[in-house]
Amino acid sequence: MSKSLQAIRGMNDILPAQTPVWRYLETTFAQLLDSYGYSEIRLPILEFTDLFARGIGEGTDVVDKEMYTFLDRNEESLTLRPEGTAGCVRAVLEHGMTGGGQVQKLWYAGPMFRYEKPQKGRYRQFHQIGVEVFNQPGPDIDAELIVLTARLWKKLGMSDAVTLQLNSLGSSEARATYRDALVSYLQQHFDQLDEDSQRRLTTNPLRILDSKNDQTQSLLADAPTLHDYLDDESRAHFDGLKRRLDAAGIAFEINPKLVRGLDYYGRTVFEWVTDKLGSQGTVCAGGRYDGLVSQFGGKPTPGVGFAMGIERLVLLMETLELVPEELNLPAHAFICAFGEAAELAALGLAERLRDALPGLRLLVNAGGGSFKSQFKKADKSGALFALILGDDELAGRVVGCKPLRDDSEQQSIAWDALPERLAACLA
Ligand code: HAM
Repeated sequence: MSKSLQAIRGMNDILPAQTPVWRYLETTFAQLLDSYGYSEIRLPILEFTDLFARGIGEGTDVVDKEMYTFLDRNEESLTLRPEGTAGCVRAVLEHGMTGGGQVQKLWYAGPMFRYEKPQKGRYRQFHQIGVEVFNQPGPDIDAELIVLTARLWKKLGMSDAVTLQLNSLGSSEARATYRDALVSYLQQHFDQLDEDSQRRLTTNPLRILDSKNDQTQSLLADAPTLHDYLDDESRAHFDGLKRRLDAAGIAFEINPKLVRGLDYYGRTVFEWVTDKLGSQGTVCAGGRYDGLVSQFGGKPTPGVGFAMGIERLVLLMETLELVPEELNLPAHAFICAFGEAAELAALGLAERLRDALPGLRLLVNAGGGSFKSQFKKADKSGALFALILGDDELAGRVVGCKPLRDDSEQQSIAWDALPERLAACLA
Protein backbone atom coordinates (compact mmCIF):
# COMPACT_ATOMS: atom_id res chain seq x y z
CA MET A 1 0.00 0.00 0.00
CA SER A 2 1.36 3.46 -0.78
CA LYS A 3 2.60 5.37 2.26
CA SER A 4 -0.01 8.10 1.90
CA LEU A 5 -2.74 5.54 2.60
CA GLN A 6 -1.43 4.44 5.96
CA ALA A 7 -2.73 5.63 9.30
CA ILE A 8 -0.45 8.07 11.10
CA ARG A 9 2.02 6.37 13.47
CA GLY A 10 0.55 6.05 16.93
CA MET A 11 -3.02 6.60 15.70
CA ASN A 12 -4.96 3.38 15.65
CA ASP A 13 -8.04 2.12 13.91
CA ILE A 14 -10.28 0.44 16.43
CA LEU A 15 -11.59 -2.49 14.44
CA PRO A 16 -14.96 -4.25 14.79
CA ALA A 17 -13.38 -7.06 16.80
CA GLN A 18 -12.41 -4.51 19.46
CA THR A 19 -15.32 -2.08 19.51
CA PRO A 20 -17.58 -4.26 21.72
CA VAL A 21 -15.11 -4.05 24.60
CA TRP A 22 -14.74 -0.29 24.08
CA ARG A 23 -18.51 0.12 24.17
CA TYR A 24 -18.72 -2.08 27.23
CA LEU A 25 -16.16 0.05 29.08
CA GLU A 26 -17.80 3.29 28.01
CA THR A 27 -21.32 2.23 28.97
CA THR A 28 -20.21 0.65 32.26
CA PHE A 29 -18.48 3.88 33.16
CA ALA A 30 -21.37 6.11 32.02
CA GLN A 31 -23.85 4.09 34.09
CA LEU A 32 -21.58 4.23 37.11
CA LEU A 33 -21.19 8.00 36.86
CA ASP A 34 -24.93 8.40 36.41
CA SER A 35 -25.44 6.54 39.64
CA TYR A 36 -23.09 8.95 41.47
CA GLY A 37 -24.87 12.02 40.04
CA TYR A 38 -22.29 13.13 37.44
CA SER A 39 -23.38 14.71 34.13
CA GLU A 40 -21.76 14.37 30.74
CA ILE A 41 -20.17 17.36 29.00
CA ARG A 42 -18.99 17.22 25.36
CA LEU A 43 -16.09 19.46 24.48
CA PRO A 44 -14.31 20.46 21.26
CA ILE A 45 -11.23 18.54 20.21
CA LEU A 46 -9.53 21.73 19.02
CA GLU A 47 -8.81 24.69 21.27
CA PHE A 48 -6.65 27.80 21.06
CA THR A 49 -3.04 26.78 21.81
CA ASP A 50 -2.80 29.38 24.55
CA LEU A 51 -5.34 27.45 26.66
CA PHE A 52 -2.98 24.49 27.03
CA ALA A 53 0.20 26.57 27.27
CA ARG A 54 -1.32 28.49 30.20
CA GLY A 55 -3.25 25.61 31.77
CA ILE A 56 -0.88 22.66 31.54
CA GLY A 57 2.19 24.88 31.79
CA GLU A 58 5.20 25.91 29.72
CA GLY A 59 8.09 23.68 30.73
CA THR A 60 5.96 20.52 30.85
CA ASP A 61 6.72 17.78 28.33
CA VAL A 62 3.14 17.91 27.07
CA VAL A 63 3.32 21.59 26.14
CA ASP A 64 6.98 21.76 25.10
CA LYS A 65 7.25 18.58 23.05
CA GLU A 66 3.99 16.77 22.53
CA MET A 67 1.31 19.07 21.19
CA TYR A 68 -0.16 18.92 17.71
CA THR A 69 -0.23 22.63 16.99
CA PHE A 70 -0.92 24.40 13.70
CA LEU A 71 -2.08 27.69 12.26
CA ASP A 72 -5.58 27.67 10.78
CA ARG A 73 -6.55 29.64 7.67
CA ASN A 74 -7.04 32.68 9.86
CA GLU A 75 -3.48 32.40 11.22
CA GLU A 76 -4.78 31.42 14.67
CA SER A 77 -2.65 28.92 16.56
CA LEU A 78 -4.82 25.90 17.39
CA THR A 79 -3.96 22.67 19.18
CA LEU A 80 -5.52 19.21 19.21
CA ARG A 81 -6.36 18.72 22.87
CA PRO A 82 -3.66 16.71 24.68
CA GLU A 83 -5.98 16.25 27.68
CA GLY A 84 -9.47 17.25 28.83
CA THR A 85 -9.11 19.31 31.99
CA ALA A 86 -8.06 22.64 30.44
CA GLY A 87 -10.93 22.56 27.91
CA CYS A 88 -13.43 21.63 30.61
CA VAL A 89 -12.32 24.53 32.79
CA ARG A 90 -12.59 26.86 29.79
CA ALA A 91 -16.13 25.60 29.10
CA VAL A 92 -17.45 25.95 32.67
CA LEU A 93 -16.02 29.47 32.85
CA GLU A 94 -17.37 30.46 29.45
CA HIS A 95 -20.87 29.26 30.36
CA GLY A 96 -20.87 30.70 33.86
CA MET A 97 -21.34 27.26 35.37
CA THR A 98 -19.24 27.77 38.48
CA GLY A 99 -20.37 31.27 39.53
CA GLY A 100 -21.86 31.71 43.01
CA GLY A 101 -20.21 28.54 44.23
CA GLN A 102 -22.29 26.25 41.96
CA VAL A 103 -21.10 22.70 42.26
CA GLN A 104 -20.44 20.93 38.96
CA LYS A 105 -19.79 17.20 38.71
CA LEU A 106 -18.92 16.49 35.09
CA TRP A 107 -17.52 13.73 32.92
CA TYR A 108 -16.35 13.51 29.32
CA ALA A 109 -14.91 10.93 26.97
CA GLY A 110 -13.03 11.15 23.73
CA PRO A 111 -9.76 11.25 21.84
CA MET A 112 -6.69 13.16 23.05
CA PHE A 113 -3.48 13.79 21.08
CA ARG A 114 0.14 13.80 22.18
CA TYR A 115 3.23 13.51 20.03
CA GLU A 116 4.84 10.84 22.20
CA LYS A 117 7.00 7.90 21.19
CA PRO A 118 4.44 5.17 20.47
CA GLN A 119 4.76 1.85 22.26
CA LYS A 120 2.40 -0.63 23.90
CA GLY A 121 -0.09 1.42 25.92
CA ARG A 122 1.22 4.75 24.63
CA TYR A 123 -0.20 6.27 21.48
CA ARG A 124 -0.39 9.61 19.72
CA GLN A 125 -4.16 9.51 19.50
CA PHE A 126 -5.54 7.89 22.62
CA HIS A 127 -8.84 8.03 24.44
CA GLN A 128 -9.69 9.16 27.92
CA ILE A 129 -12.73 9.10 30.12
CA GLY A 130 -12.37 11.97 32.53
CA VAL A 131 -14.20 13.50 35.47
CA GLU A 132 -13.96 17.06 36.80
CA VAL A 133 -15.65 18.49 39.91
CA PHE A 134 -15.85 22.20 40.68
CA ASN A 135 -16.53 24.08 43.92
CA GLN A 136 -15.96 21.16 46.27
CA PRO A 137 -12.89 22.06 48.33
CA GLY A 138 -12.84 19.21 50.85
CA PRO A 139 -11.14 15.84 50.92
CA ASP A 140 -14.60 14.21 50.89
CA ILE A 141 -14.91 14.71 47.13
CA ASP A 142 -11.32 13.56 46.51
CA ALA A 143 -12.32 10.39 48.36
CA GLU A 144 -15.53 10.04 46.32
CA LEU A 145 -13.56 10.17 43.06
CA ILE A 146 -11.24 7.45 44.27
CA VAL A 147 -14.10 5.36 45.65
CA LEU A 148 -15.97 5.49 42.36
CA THR A 149 -12.90 4.44 40.37
CA ALA A 150 -12.42 1.56 42.83
CA ARG A 151 -16.02 0.55 42.15
CA LEU A 152 -15.30 0.56 38.43
CA TRP A 153 -12.32 -1.78 38.89
CA LYS A 154 -14.58 -4.05 40.92
CA LYS A 155 -17.27 -4.03 38.24
CA LEU A 156 -14.69 -4.84 35.59
CA GLY A 157 -13.17 -7.59 37.76
CA MET A 158 -9.71 -5.98 37.91
CA SER A 159 -9.47 -4.82 41.54
CA ASP A 160 -6.59 -7.19 42.25
CA ALA A 161 -4.58 -5.92 39.29
CA VAL A 162 -4.43 -2.22 40.22
CA THR A 163 -2.99 -0.34 43.17
CA LEU A 164 -3.55 3.22 44.31
CA GLN A 165 -0.65 5.63 44.73
CA LEU A 166 -1.28 8.84 46.59
CA ASN A 167 0.57 12.04 47.35
CA SER A 168 -0.04 15.63 48.37
CA LEU A 169 1.74 18.42 46.53
CA GLY A 170 0.73 21.02 49.12
CA SER A 171 -0.06 24.67 48.45
CA SER A 172 1.71 26.58 45.71
CA GLU A 173 3.73 28.46 48.36
CA ALA A 174 4.80 25.20 50.00
CA ARG A 175 5.74 23.80 46.61
CA ALA A 176 7.76 26.91 45.76
CA THR A 177 9.74 26.67 49.01
CA TYR A 178 10.28 22.97 48.43
CA ARG A 179 11.31 23.58 44.81
CA ASP A 180 14.05 25.97 46.00
CA ALA A 181 15.29 23.42 48.53
CA LEU A 182 15.30 20.64 45.94
CA VAL A 183 17.08 22.79 43.35
CA SER A 184 19.79 23.86 45.77
CA TYR A 185 20.35 20.22 46.82
CA LEU A 186 20.48 18.96 43.23
CA GLN A 187 22.70 21.81 42.06
CA GLN A 188 25.41 20.45 44.34
CA HIS A 189 25.23 17.20 42.36
CA PHE A 190 24.58 18.71 38.93
CA ASP A 191 27.26 16.65 37.14
CA GLN A 192 25.77 13.38 38.38
CA LEU A 193 22.27 14.15 37.05
CA ASP A 194 21.08 12.63 33.77
CA GLU A 195 20.76 15.03 30.86
CA ASP A 196 16.97 15.31 31.08
CA SER A 197 17.10 16.10 34.78
CA GLN A 198 19.82 18.73 34.20
CA ARG A 199 17.46 20.45 31.79
CA ARG A 200 14.52 20.10 34.17
CA LEU A 201 16.47 21.68 37.00
CA THR A 202 15.68 25.03 35.43
CA THR A 203 12.39 24.25 33.62
CA ASN A 204 10.45 21.92 35.95
CA PRO A 205 12.56 20.63 38.86
CA LEU A 206 9.78 18.63 40.58
CA ARG A 207 9.60 16.33 37.54
CA ILE A 208 13.12 15.17 38.37
CA LEU A 209 11.52 13.22 41.21
CA ASP A 210 10.01 10.74 38.77
CA SER A 211 13.15 10.40 36.63
CA LYS A 212 13.69 6.83 35.42
CA ASN A 213 17.48 7.22 35.70
CA ASP A 214 18.99 5.02 38.43
CA GLN A 215 21.82 7.38 39.33
CA THR A 216 19.42 10.32 39.60
CA GLN A 217 17.11 8.21 41.74
CA SER A 218 19.93 7.29 44.12
CA LEU A 219 20.83 10.98 44.46
CA LEU A 220 17.20 11.67 45.33
CA ALA A 221 17.33 9.24 48.24
CA ASP A 222 19.01 11.98 50.32
CA ALA A 223 17.12 14.91 48.81
CA PRO A 224 14.63 16.93 50.86
CA THR A 225 11.09 15.55 50.53
CA LEU A 226 7.97 17.46 49.71
CA HIS A 227 6.24 16.13 52.80
CA ASP A 228 8.60 18.02 55.07
CA TYR A 229 7.44 21.23 53.42
CA LEU A 230 3.68 20.62 53.41
CA ASP A 231 1.62 23.50 54.79
CA ASP A 232 -0.76 22.76 57.67
CA GLU A 233 -3.96 23.05 55.61
CA SER A 234 -2.69 20.67 52.94
CA ARG A 235 -1.55 18.25 55.62
CA ALA A 236 -5.01 18.33 57.22
CA HIS A 237 -6.64 17.86 53.80
CA PHE A 238 -4.39 14.89 53.06
CA ASP A 239 -5.07 13.34 56.49
CA GLY A 240 -8.81 13.79 55.87
CA LEU A 241 -8.51 11.96 52.55
CA LYS A 242 -6.50 9.10 54.04
CA ARG A 243 -9.03 8.68 56.88
CA ARG A 244 -11.87 8.47 54.36
CA LEU A 245 -10.08 5.94 52.21
CA ASP A 246 -9.38 3.85 55.31
CA ALA A 247 -13.06 4.06 56.25
CA ALA A 248 -14.05 2.97 52.74
CA GLY A 249 -11.61 0.06 52.90
CA ILE A 250 -9.48 1.31 50.00
CA ALA A 251 -5.82 0.43 50.25
CA PHE A 252 -3.28 3.02 49.12
CA GLU A 253 0.42 3.55 49.01
CA ILE A 254 1.90 6.97 49.74
CA ASN A 255 4.35 7.81 46.98
CA PRO A 256 6.23 11.01 47.89
CA LYS A 257 7.73 11.08 44.39
CA LEU A 258 4.37 11.20 42.62
CA VAL A 259 4.33 14.71 41.14
CA ARG A 260 2.39 14.31 37.82
CA GLY A 261 3.39 15.83 34.51
CA LEU A 262 0.90 18.70 34.32
CA ASP A 263 1.51 21.95 36.19
CA TYR A 264 -1.98 22.68 37.45
CA TYR A 265 -1.99 20.27 40.39
CA GLY A 266 -1.79 21.17 44.07
CA ARG A 267 -2.60 19.10 47.17
CA THR A 268 -4.06 15.68 46.29
CA VAL A 269 -2.59 13.73 43.39
CA PHE A 270 -3.21 10.05 42.71
CA GLU A 271 -2.57 7.32 40.18
CA TRP A 272 -3.99 3.84 39.77
CA VAL A 273 -1.20 1.65 38.43
CA THR A 274 -0.85 -1.94 37.29
CA ASP A 275 2.24 -4.09 36.84
CA LYS A 276 0.53 -6.11 34.08
CA LEU A 277 1.16 -3.74 31.16
CA GLY A 278 4.91 -3.14 31.25
CA SER A 279 6.17 0.43 31.45
CA GLN A 280 2.84 2.12 30.64
CA GLY A 281 1.13 0.95 33.78
CA THR A 282 -0.84 4.03 34.85
CA VAL A 283 -4.46 3.36 33.95
CA CYS A 284 -6.03 6.33 35.73
CA ALA A 285 -4.57 9.53 37.14
CA GLY A 286 -5.68 12.82 38.56
CA GLY A 287 -5.72 15.26 41.39
CA ARG A 288 -6.72 18.64 42.69
CA TYR A 289 -6.22 21.88 40.77
CA ASP A 290 -7.69 24.64 42.95
CA GLY A 291 -5.73 27.37 41.18
CA LEU A 292 -6.61 26.66 37.56
CA VAL A 293 -9.93 28.47 37.24
CA SER A 294 -8.50 31.70 38.65
CA GLN A 295 -5.43 31.27 36.47
CA PHE A 296 -7.85 31.39 33.51
CA GLY A 297 -9.37 34.61 34.83
CA GLY A 298 -12.27 33.19 36.86
CA LYS A 299 -13.02 33.61 40.57
CA PRO A 300 -11.04 31.22 42.79
CA THR A 301 -12.83 27.88 42.32
CA PRO A 302 -11.68 24.54 43.69
CA GLY A 303 -11.35 21.80 41.09
CA VAL A 304 -10.47 18.13 41.22
CA GLY A 305 -10.65 15.30 38.72
CA PHE A 306 -9.00 12.39 36.98
CA ALA A 307 -8.81 10.68 33.62
CA MET A 308 -8.35 7.07 32.64
CA GLY A 309 -6.80 5.76 29.45
CA ILE A 310 -9.26 3.57 27.59
CA GLU A 311 -6.59 1.81 25.48
CA ARG A 312 -4.77 0.78 28.65
CA LEU A 313 -7.97 -0.49 30.26
CA VAL A 314 -8.79 -2.48 27.12
CA LEU A 315 -5.26 -3.95 27.13
CA LEU A 316 -5.60 -4.82 30.79
CA MET A 317 -8.98 -6.49 30.26
CA GLU A 318 -7.52 -8.52 27.40
CA THR A 319 -4.38 -9.44 29.36
CA LEU A 320 -6.41 -10.58 32.34
CA GLU A 321 -8.99 -12.28 30.09
CA LEU A 322 -11.77 -10.22 31.59
CA VAL A 323 -13.63 -9.42 28.36
CA PRO A 324 -17.14 -10.82 28.97
CA GLU A 325 -18.05 -13.53 26.48
CA GLU A 326 -21.50 -12.11 25.90
CA LEU A 327 -19.96 -9.06 24.20
CA ASN A 328 -19.65 -11.00 20.97
CA LEU A 329 -23.12 -12.43 20.72
CA PRO A 330 -24.04 -14.05 17.40
CA ALA A 331 -27.23 -13.25 15.49
CA HIS A 332 -30.34 -15.09 16.56
CA ALA A 333 -31.47 -15.79 13.02
CA PHE A 334 -30.45 -15.44 9.37
CA ILE A 335 -33.14 -15.26 6.68
CA CYS A 336 -32.34 -17.05 3.41
CA ALA A 337 -34.69 -16.12 0.56
CA PHE A 338 -34.80 -17.72 -2.89
CA GLY A 339 -36.27 -15.84 -5.84
CA GLU A 340 -37.50 -12.29 -6.09
CA ALA A 341 -40.96 -12.88 -4.58
CA ALA A 342 -39.39 -14.52 -1.52
CA GLU A 343 -36.83 -11.72 -1.23
CA LEU A 344 -39.62 -9.12 -1.19
CA ALA A 345 -41.56 -11.09 1.41
CA ALA A 346 -38.40 -11.58 3.50
CA LEU A 347 -37.91 -7.83 3.75
CA GLY A 348 -41.42 -7.29 5.17
CA LEU A 349 -41.21 -10.34 7.43
CA ALA A 350 -37.87 -9.21 8.87
CA GLU A 351 -39.23 -5.76 9.71
CA ARG A 352 -42.34 -7.27 11.38
CA LEU A 353 -40.08 -9.53 13.47
CA ARG A 354 -37.92 -6.55 14.48
CA ASP A 355 -41.08 -4.63 15.49
CA ALA A 356 -42.32 -7.55 17.55
CA LEU A 357 -39.00 -8.45 19.17
CA PRO A 358 -36.78 -5.48 20.07
CA GLY A 359 -33.36 -6.93 20.84
CA LEU A 360 -33.65 -9.57 18.12
CA ARG A 361 -30.40 -9.88 16.18
CA LEU A 362 -31.61 -10.74 12.72
CA LEU A 363 -29.61 -10.92 9.50
CA VAL A 364 -31.20 -11.03 6.05
CA ASN A 365 -29.31 -12.45 3.10
CA ALA A 366 -28.29 -9.85 0.54
CA GLY A 367 -26.99 -10.53 -2.95
CA GLY A 368 -29.10 -13.58 -3.82
CA GLY A 369 -27.32 -16.90 -4.31
CA SER A 370 -28.08 -20.61 -4.41
CA PHE A 371 -29.54 -22.54 -1.49
CA LYS A 372 -26.09 -23.90 -0.72
CA SER A 373 -24.32 -20.52 -0.73
CA GLN A 374 -26.98 -18.77 1.38
CA PHE A 375 -27.01 -21.62 3.85
CA LYS A 376 -23.22 -21.44 4.10
CA LYS A 377 -23.42 -17.68 4.82
CA ALA A 378 -26.07 -18.32 7.49
CA ASP A 379 -23.83 -20.89 9.13
CA LYS A 380 -20.72 -18.68 8.94
CA SER A 381 -22.60 -15.75 10.49
CA GLY A 382 -22.83 -17.71 13.72
CA ALA A 383 -26.65 -17.35 13.76
CA LEU A 384 -28.60 -19.85 15.81
CA PHE A 385 -31.29 -20.45 13.16
CA ALA A 386 -31.63 -20.18 9.39
CA LEU A 387 -35.13 -19.06 8.38
CA ILE A 388 -35.76 -20.36 4.87
CA LEU A 389 -38.14 -18.72 2.46
CA GLY A 390 -38.74 -20.10 -1.07
CA ASP A 391 -41.77 -20.33 -3.36
CA ASP A 392 -43.39 -23.19 -1.38
CA GLU A 393 -42.99 -21.41 1.96
CA LEU A 394 -44.34 -18.22 0.43
CA ALA A 395 -47.45 -19.99 -0.80
CA GLY A 396 -48.05 -21.51 2.66
CA ARG A 397 -47.08 -18.31 4.59
CA VAL A 398 -44.53 -20.35 6.56
CA VAL A 399 -40.73 -20.41 6.93
CA GLY A 400 -38.44 -23.40 7.24
CA CYS A 401 -36.62 -22.99 10.55
CA LYS A 402 -33.34 -24.89 10.63
CA PRO A 403 -31.34 -24.89 13.88
CA LEU A 404 -27.69 -24.30 12.92
CA ARG A 405 -25.95 -25.08 16.18
CA ASP A 406 -27.28 -28.58 16.83
CA ASP A 407 -28.64 -31.50 14.82
CA SER A 408 -32.36 -30.84 15.44
CA GLU A 409 -34.72 -31.25 12.54
CA GLN A 410 -35.89 -28.37 10.37
CA GLN A 411 -39.45 -27.28 11.25
CA SER A 412 -42.07 -25.40 9.33
CA ILE A 413 -43.38 -22.38 11.29
CA ALA A 414 -46.27 -20.10 10.31
CA TRP A 415 -45.26 -16.44 9.90
CA ASP A 416 -47.73 -15.37 12.59
CA ALA A 417 -46.26 -17.84 15.07
CA LEU A 418 -42.64 -16.84 14.39
CA PRO A 419 -42.33 -13.98 16.93
CA GLU A 420 -43.46 -16.23 19.73
CA ARG A 421 -41.11 -19.04 18.69
CA LEU A 422 -38.15 -16.70 18.32
CA ALA A 423 -38.95 -14.95 21.63
CA ALA A 424 -37.83 -18.14 23.33
CA CYS A 425 -34.25 -17.64 22.11
CA LEU A 426 -34.21 -14.02 23.38
CA ALA A 427 -35.01 -15.11 26.90
P1 HAM B 1 -2.60 12.23 32.41
O1 HAM B 1 -1.88 11.53 33.51
O2 HAM B 1 -1.77 12.99 31.47
O3 HAM B 1 -3.66 13.17 33.11
O4 HAM B 1 -3.46 11.18 31.59
C1 HAM B 1 -4.43 10.39 32.24
C2 HAM B 1 -4.39 8.98 31.71
O5 HAM B 1 -4.52 8.97 30.29
C3 HAM B 1 -3.07 8.25 31.94
O6 HAM B 1 -3.02 7.73 33.24
C4 HAM B 1 -3.14 7.16 30.89
O7 HAM B 1 -3.96 6.09 31.33
C5 HAM B 1 -3.81 7.88 29.75
N1 HAM B 1 -2.81 8.35 28.78
C6 HAM B 1 -2.07 9.49 28.85
N2 HAM B 1 -1.26 9.59 27.78
C7 HAM B 1 -1.48 8.51 27.02
C8 HAM B 1 -0.96 8.03 25.78
N3 HAM B 1 -0.05 8.73 25.08
N4 HAM B 1 -1.42 6.85 25.29
C9 HAM B 1 -2.35 6.14 25.96
N5 HAM B 1 -2.89 6.55 27.12
C10 HAM B 1 -2.47 7.70 27.65
C11 HAM B 1 -4.51 13.98 32.43
O8 HAM B 1 -4.67 13.95 31.24
C12 HAM B 1 -5.33 14.87 33.33
N6 HAM B 1 -6.15 15.76 32.49
C13 HAM B 1 -6.18 14.06 34.28
C14 HAM B 1 -7.00 14.90 35.18
C15 HAM B 1 -8.31 15.21 35.04
N7 HAM B 1 -6.56 15.51 36.26
C16 HAM B 1 -7.56 16.21 36.80
N8 HAM B 1 -8.62 16.04 36.04
